[in-house]
Amino acid sequence: MAETGHFGGRQVPLGEKQALVDDVFHGVARRYDLMNDLMSFGLHRTWKNALVAALGTSKHAPFAVLDIAGGTGDIAFRIVAGGGPQTRATVCDINADMLEVGRARAAKLGGARPAVDFTRGNAEALPFTDRSFDAVTIAFGIRNVPRIERALAEAYRVLKIGGRFLCLEFSTVDVPALDTLYDFYSFNVIPALGRVVVGDAESYRYLVESIRRFPKPQVFAAMLRAAGFARVFFRAMSGGIVVLHSGWRL
Ligand SMILES: C[S@@+](CC[C@H](N)C(=O)[O-])C[C@H]1O[C@@H](n2cnc3c(N)ncnc32)[C@H](O)[C@@H]1O
Repeated sequence: MAETGHFGGRQVPLGEKQALVDDVFHGVARRYDLMNDLMSFGLHRTWKNALVAALGTSKHAPFAVLDIAGGTGDIAFRIVAGGGPQTRATVCDINADMLEVGRARAAKLGGARPAVDFTRGNAEALPFTDRSFDAVTIAFGIRNVPRIERALAEAYRVLKIGGRFLCLEFSTVDVPALDTLYDFYSFNVIPALGRVVVGDAESYRYLVESIRRFPKPQVFAAMLRAAGFARVFFRAMSGGIVVLHSGWRL
């Protein structure tokens, strides 16, 4: 029997999951950044800034960061803005539409952002050589990848020895009352917002359901260790809505 994985609340053959995920992001690409602001009341900016602050890019030495599933470049632009003159960020994403929005954003920013480049590629088979990045990041991307273990092995492979891996991902809230509110908001308000803003409630239902299916922070931390990462830890933010995971290639 073919291996299966979750596509939101549905069990689908693993080989079919990527195409379904790609359809979601083809559909939402143009309004992706606006929807992030609306859905999170702008909080996604705080979470992303926390990742960039934890990264601690070098202000004086060359520093190359790979942002996997980097979509419209939101993390990469922040990394470059917070880094030194020799900080470079490469956005790698499987979805051409998300990358196109990112390139348009870079063009709008003009000469200020030549340090960000965009590459189409699959997190499960990264188009980069071994040990080529000082840091690898992935924000709200890993739960969309069908074979998470492969993506973690690839992130490890392209990291230099001494390099850091940081991953932001949604988690489940376990604060009494906030959990009920969060569930109501997730399953009712977010799909409705998707319908109004993008004309598509289904994609946002997938995004919400995929959060519930993603491994708990302790389980994901164990997956990082199994992929070879050292000094693995995680930090919950906003009552557990989002978790920042960290590991090193030593
Ligand atoms: C929720 S968005 C996150 C975008 C961005 N990191 C951010 O935080 O705004 C998820 C991204 O994962 C990308 N993605 C899904 N599967 C992927 C894969 N196998 N390899 C690379 N990117 C993938 C999607 O195309 C999409 O751009």
